[in-house]
Amino acid sequence: MIREFDLTGRLAVVTGGAAGIGRAIAEVLAEGGARVVIADRNLAAATALAATLNGVALALDVTDAEAAEAAAAGLARDHGAPAILVNNAGIVQNAPALEVNLADWRRVIEVNLHGVFHTARAFGRHMVAAGAGSVVNISSICGEVAVHPQPQAAYNAAKAGVNLLTRSLAVEWAGKVRVNAVAPGYTATELTLLGRSKPEWFDTWLRGIPMGRLADPREIALAVAFLASDAASYITGTVLTADGGYTAI
Ligand SMILES: NC(=O)c1ccc[n+]([C@@H]2O[C@H](COP(=O)([O-])OP(=O)(O)OC[C@H]3O[C@@H](n4cnc5c(N)ncnc54)[C@H](O)[C@@H]3O)[C@@H](O)[C@H]2O)c1
Repeated sequence: MIREFDLTGRLAVVTGGAAGIGRAIAEVLAEGGARVVIADRNLAAATALAATLNGVALALDVTDAEAAEAAAAGLARDHGAPAILVNNAGIVQNAPALEVNLADWRRVIEVNLHGVFHTARAFGRHMVAAGAGSVVNISSICGEVAVHPQPQAAYNAAKAGVNLLTRSLAVEWAGKVRVNAVAPGYTATELTLLGRSKPEWFDTWLRGIPMGRLADPREIALAVAFLASDAASYITGTVLTADGGYTAI
Protein backbone atom coordinates (compact mmCIF):
# COMPACT_ATOMS: atom_id res chain seq x y z
CA MET A 1 0.00 0.00 0.00
CA ILE A 2 1.36 3.44 -0.96
CA ARG A 3 1.07 5.41 2.28
CA GLU A 4 -0.21 8.62 0.62
CA PHE A 5 -3.34 6.76 -0.54
CA ASP A 6 -4.26 5.79 3.02
CA LEU A 7 -7.39 7.57 4.29
CA THR A 8 -7.46 5.98 7.73
CA GLY A 9 -9.47 8.03 10.22
CA ARG A 10 -10.29 10.86 7.79
CA LEU A 11 -13.76 12.34 8.09
CA ALA A 12 -15.31 12.44 4.60
CA VAL A 13 -18.62 14.08 3.65
CA VAL A 14 -20.28 12.90 0.42
CA THR A 15 -23.34 14.81 -0.79
CA GLY A 16 -25.80 12.75 -2.79
CA GLY A 17 -23.96 9.80 -1.31
CA ALA A 18 -26.94 7.47 -1.00
CA ALA A 19 -27.05 6.27 -4.62
CA GLY A 20 -25.17 5.98 -7.89
CA ILE A 21 -21.72 7.57 -8.15
CA GLY A 22 -22.01 9.09 -4.66
CA ARG A 23 -22.69 5.69 -3.17
CA ALA A 24 -19.62 4.23 -4.90
CA ILE A 25 -17.56 7.17 -3.62
CA ALA A 26 -18.78 6.58 -0.06
CA GLU A 27 -17.92 2.86 -0.37
CA VAL A 28 -14.44 3.45 -1.81
CA LEU A 29 -13.53 6.16 0.72
CA ALA A 30 -14.70 3.84 3.53
CA GLU A 31 -12.58 1.04 2.03
CA GLY A 32 -9.64 3.44 2.13
CA GLY A 33 -10.20 3.90 5.87
CA ALA A 34 -12.28 7.09 5.95
CA ARG A 35 -15.21 7.70 8.30
CA VAL A 36 -17.93 8.59 5.81
CA VAL A 37 -20.83 11.00 6.28
CA ILE A 38 -23.53 10.38 3.70
CA ALA A 39 -25.44 13.63 3.18
CA ASP A 40 -28.45 13.09 0.96
CA ARG A 41 -31.99 14.34 0.57
CA ASN A 42 -33.00 10.66 0.74
CA LEU A 43 -32.40 9.99 4.45
CA ALA A 44 -33.71 6.41 4.40
CA ALA A 45 -31.23 5.36 1.71
CA ALA A 46 -28.40 7.32 3.37
CA THR A 47 -29.14 5.63 6.72
CA ALA A 48 -29.18 2.14 5.18
CA LEU A 49 -25.82 2.72 3.47
CA ALA A 50 -24.26 4.38 6.52
CA ALA A 51 -25.12 1.29 8.57
CA THR A 52 -23.14 -0.94 6.18
CA LEU A 53 -20.13 1.41 6.14
CA ASN A 54 -20.02 2.22 9.84
CA GLY A 55 -20.65 5.80 8.75
CA VAL A 56 -23.03 8.61 9.54
CA ALA A 57 -26.21 9.62 7.67
CA LEU A 58 -27.28 13.22 7.33
CA ALA A 59 -30.53 14.52 5.80
CA LEU A 60 -29.51 17.36 3.51
CA ASP A 61 -30.95 19.03 0.45
CA VAL A 62 -28.02 20.89 -1.10
CA THR A 63 -30.30 23.62 -2.45
CA ASP A 64 -30.90 24.76 1.14
CA ALA A 65 -27.91 26.97 2.01
CA GLU A 66 -28.98 27.46 5.63
CA ALA A 67 -29.47 23.74 6.17
CA ALA A 68 -25.98 23.13 4.73
CA GLU A 69 -24.47 25.65 7.16
CA ALA A 70 -26.33 24.07 10.08
CA ALA A 71 -25.29 20.54 9.06
CA ALA A 72 -21.66 21.63 8.69
CA ALA A 73 -21.65 23.41 12.06
CA GLY A 74 -23.23 20.38 13.76
CA LEU A 75 -20.71 18.02 12.20
CA ALA A 76 -17.78 20.26 13.15
CA ARG A 77 -19.07 20.42 16.72
CA ASP A 78 -19.56 16.65 17.05
CA HIS A 79 -16.71 15.28 14.91
CA GLY A 80 -14.45 18.18 13.89
CA ALA A 81 -13.88 19.62 10.43
CA PRO A 82 -14.07 17.14 7.56
CA ALA A 83 -10.78 16.21 5.89
CA ILE A 84 -12.62 15.36 2.66
CA LEU A 85 -15.72 16.87 1.06
CA VAL A 86 -17.20 15.44 -2.13
CA ASN A 87 -19.86 17.65 -3.72
CA ASN A 88 -21.61 15.00 -5.77
CA ALA A 89 -25.39 15.59 -5.53
CA GLY A 90 -26.82 16.35 -8.94
CA ILE A 91 -29.83 15.93 -11.21
CA VAL A 92 -30.42 16.01 -14.96
CA GLN A 93 -33.38 17.23 -16.98
CA ASN A 94 -33.67 16.94 -20.73
CA ALA A 95 -35.48 19.74 -22.54
CA PRO A 96 -34.74 21.77 -25.67
CA ALA A 97 -33.56 25.32 -24.91
CA LEU A 98 -36.47 26.85 -26.82
CA GLU A 99 -39.00 24.93 -24.77
CA VAL A 100 -37.54 24.39 -21.31
CA ASN A 101 -39.70 25.97 -18.65
CA LEU A 102 -37.86 28.36 -16.37
CA ALA A 103 -38.73 26.47 -13.21
CA ASP A 104 -36.94 23.39 -14.60
CA TRP A 105 -33.99 25.49 -15.82
CA ARG A 106 -33.62 27.10 -12.39
CA ARG A 107 -33.97 23.79 -10.53
CA VAL A 108 -31.09 22.22 -12.46
CA ILE A 109 -28.83 25.24 -11.85
CA GLU A 110 -29.97 25.35 -8.23
CA VAL A 111 -28.99 21.74 -7.46
CA ASN A 112 -25.96 21.32 -9.75
CA LEU A 113 -24.24 24.71 -9.38
CA HIS A 114 -25.67 26.56 -6.38
CA GLY A 115 -25.83 23.29 -4.44
CA VAL A 116 -22.08 22.74 -4.94
CA PHE A 117 -21.42 26.30 -3.77
CA HIS A 118 -23.66 25.95 -0.70
CA THR A 119 -21.97 22.80 0.59
CA ALA A 120 -18.46 23.84 -0.51
CA ARG A 121 -18.87 27.03 1.49
CA ALA A 122 -20.65 25.51 4.49
CA PHE A 123 -18.24 22.61 5.07
CA GLY A 124 -15.31 24.44 3.46
CA ARG A 125 -15.29 27.19 6.07
CA HIS A 126 -14.50 24.59 8.77
CA MET A 127 -11.84 22.98 6.57
CA VAL A 128 -10.21 26.34 5.79
CA ALA A 129 -10.28 27.21 9.51
CA ALA A 130 -8.60 23.87 10.25
CA GLY A 131 -6.06 24.69 7.53
CA ALA A 132 -6.27 21.33 5.75
CA GLY A 133 -8.48 19.19 3.58
CA SER A 134 -9.50 18.19 0.08
CA VAL A 135 -12.70 19.11 -1.76
CA VAL A 136 -13.70 17.15 -4.85
CA ASN A 137 -16.60 18.44 -6.94
CA ILE A 138 -18.36 16.08 -9.31
CA SER A 139 -18.60 17.85 -12.62
CA SER A 140 -19.18 16.14 -15.97
CA ILE A 141 -17.89 15.93 -19.51
CA CYS A 142 -20.93 18.17 -20.08
CA GLY A 143 -18.98 20.99 -18.45
CA GLU A 144 -16.54 20.85 -21.38
CA VAL A 145 -18.56 19.76 -24.40
CA ALA A 146 -22.21 19.93 -25.45
CA VAL A 147 -23.13 16.27 -25.55
CA HIS A 148 -25.77 15.03 -27.98
CA PRO A 149 -28.40 14.03 -29.01
CA GLN A 150 -30.15 14.75 -25.70
CA PRO A 151 -30.94 18.44 -25.08
CA GLN A 152 -29.79 19.63 -21.62
CA ALA A 153 -28.42 23.16 -21.82
CA ALA A 154 -29.10 23.89 -18.12
CA TYR A 155 -27.14 20.83 -16.97
CA ASN A 156 -24.23 21.62 -19.29
CA ALA A 157 -24.12 25.28 -18.19
CA ALA A 158 -24.23 24.27 -14.50
CA LYS A 159 -21.35 21.81 -14.93
CA ALA A 160 -19.24 24.40 -16.77
CA GLY A 161 -19.92 26.64 -13.78
CA VAL A 162 -18.73 23.89 -11.43
CA ASN A 163 -15.41 23.73 -13.30
CA LEU A 164 -14.71 27.45 -12.80
CA LEU A 165 -16.08 27.40 -9.26
CA THR A 166 -13.57 24.60 -8.60
CA ARG A 167 -10.67 26.66 -9.94
CA SER A 168 -11.85 29.80 -8.10
CA LEU A 169 -12.07 28.05 -4.72
CA ALA A 170 -8.74 26.32 -5.36
CA VAL A 171 -7.08 29.71 -5.74
CA GLU A 172 -8.89 31.29 -2.78
CA TRP A 173 -8.11 28.39 -0.45
CA ALA A 174 -4.64 27.51 -1.78
CA GLY A 175 -2.19 26.41 0.90
CA LYS A 176 -5.06 25.33 3.15
CA VAL A 177 -7.62 23.28 1.28
CA ARG A 178 -7.17 21.68 -2.16
CA VAL A 179 -10.18 21.91 -4.50
CA ASN A 180 -10.47 19.74 -7.61
CA ALA A 181 -13.18 18.22 -9.76
CA VAL A 182 -13.78 14.88 -11.41
CA ALA A 183 -15.62 15.03 -14.73
CA PRO A 184 -17.20 11.65 -15.40
CA GLY A 185 -18.39 10.51 -18.78
CA TYR A 186 -21.54 8.42 -19.14
CA THR A 187 -21.85 6.21 -16.07
CA ALA A 188 -24.27 3.39 -15.33
CA THR A 189 -26.59 4.93 -12.68
CA GLU A 190 -30.24 6.00 -12.34
CA LEU A 191 -29.33 9.32 -13.92
CA THR A 192 -28.59 7.68 -17.29
CA LEU A 193 -31.50 5.19 -17.18
CA LEU A 194 -33.66 7.22 -19.56
CA GLY A 195 -30.88 7.54 -22.15
CA ARG A 196 -29.94 3.89 -21.85
CA SER A 197 -33.57 2.95 -22.59
CA LYS A 198 -33.64 4.99 -25.82
CA PRO A 199 -31.63 3.25 -28.57
CA GLU A 200 -31.36 6.51 -30.56
CA TRP A 201 -29.57 8.15 -27.61
CA PHE A 202 -27.67 5.15 -26.31
CA ASP A 203 -26.19 4.15 -29.69
CA THR A 204 -24.94 7.72 -30.20
CA TRP A 205 -23.39 7.71 -26.73
CA LEU A 206 -21.58 4.42 -27.32
CA ARG A 207 -20.29 5.49 -30.75
CA GLY A 208 -18.80 8.59 -29.07
CA ILE A 209 -16.86 6.62 -26.43
CA PRO A 210 -13.58 5.18 -27.78
CA MET A 211 -13.59 2.55 -25.00
CA GLY A 212 -17.07 1.55 -26.20
CA ARG A 213 -18.77 1.27 -22.81
CA LEU A 214 -20.14 3.29 -19.91
CA ALA A 215 -18.18 3.75 -16.69
CA ASP A 216 -18.94 1.67 -13.65
CA PRO A 217 -19.55 4.09 -10.71
CA ARG A 218 -16.56 2.59 -8.90
CA GLU A 219 -14.24 3.73 -11.71
CA ILE A 220 -15.32 7.31 -11.01
CA ALA A 221 -15.03 6.82 -7.25
CA LEU A 222 -11.40 5.69 -7.55
CA ALA A 223 -10.49 8.94 -9.32
CA VAL A 224 -12.18 10.83 -6.48
CA ALA A 225 -10.26 8.83 -3.87
CA PHE A 226 -6.99 9.78 -5.56
CA LEU A 227 -7.78 13.52 -5.50
CA ALA A 228 -9.07 13.25 -1.92
CA SER A 229 -5.86 11.60 -0.74
CA ASP A 230 -2.38 12.91 0.04
CA ALA A 231 -1.26 11.26 -3.21
CA ALA A 232 -2.63 14.42 -4.86
CA SER A 233 -0.97 16.82 -2.39
CA TYR A 234 0.31 19.17 -5.14
CA ILE A 235 -2.85 19.00 -7.25
CA THR A 236 -5.41 21.77 -6.90
CA GLY A 237 -7.71 23.57 -9.33
CA THR A 238 -7.77 20.69 -11.79
CA VAL A 239 -10.63 18.90 -13.50
CA LEU A 240 -9.80 15.21 -13.89
CA THR A 241 -11.79 13.68 -16.74
CA ALA A 242 -12.78 10.00 -16.51
CA ASP A 243 -14.72 9.36 -19.70
CA GLY A 244 -13.33 6.37 -21.62
CA GLY A 245 -11.88 8.82 -24.13
CA TYR A 246 -15.13 10.64 -24.99
CA THR A 247 -13.61 14.13 -24.95
CA ALA A 248 -10.37 12.97 -26.59
CA ILE A 249 -11.95 12.90 -30.06
N1 LIG B 1 -24.35 9.15 -14.30
C1 LIG B 1 -23.63 9.82 -15.19
O1 LIG B 1 -23.50 9.43 -16.36
C2 LIG B 1 -22.92 11.08 -14.79
C3 LIG B 1 -21.98 11.60 -15.69
C4 LIG B 1 -21.31 12.78 -15.35
C5 LIG B 1 -21.57 13.39 -14.14
N2 LIG B 1 -22.48 12.85 -13.28
C6 LIG B 1 -22.69 13.54 -12.02
O2 LIG B 1 -22.45 12.67 -10.95
C7 LIG B 1 -23.23 13.05 -9.82
C8 LIG B 1 -24.00 11.86 -9.31
O3 LIG B 1 -24.85 11.40 -10.36
P1 LIG B 1 -25.48 9.92 -10.36
O4 LIG B 1 -25.43 9.45 -11.76
O5 LIG B 1 -24.89 9.11 -9.28
O6 LIG B 1 -27.00 10.30 -9.99
P2 LIG B 1 -28.11 9.43 -9.22
O7 LIG B 1 -29.40 10.01 -9.64
O8 LIG B 1 -27.85 7.96 -9.44
O9 LIG B 1 -27.85 9.74 -7.67
C9 LIG B 1 -27.94 11.06 -7.21
C10 LIG B 1 -27.95 11.09 -5.68
O10 LIG B 1 -27.99 12.48 -5.31
C11 LIG B 1 -29.06 12.69 -4.41
N3 LIG B 1 -29.58 14.05 -4.62
C12 LIG B 1 -30.19 14.56 -5.70
N4 LIG B 1 -30.54 15.84 -5.49
C13 LIG B 1 -30.14 16.16 -4.24
C14 LIG B 1 -30.20 17.34 -3.46
N5 LIG B 1 -30.82 18.44 -3.90
N6 LIG B 1 -29.65 17.32 -2.22
C15 LIG B 1 -29.05 16.20 -1.74
N7 LIG B 1 -28.98 15.04 -2.43
C16 LIG B 1 -29.51 15.03 -3.68
C17 LIG B 1 -30.09 11.62 -4.75
O11 LIG B 1 -30.97 11.38 -3.65
C18 LIG B 1 -29.18 10.44 -5.06
O12 LIG B 1 -28.81 9.74 -3.89
C19 LIG B 1 -24.11 14.21 -10.31
O13 LIG B 1 -23.51 15.43 -9.96
C20 LIG B 1 -24.11 14.02 -11.80
O14 LIG B 1 -24.37 15.23 -12.49
C21 LIG B 1 -23.15 11.72 -13.57
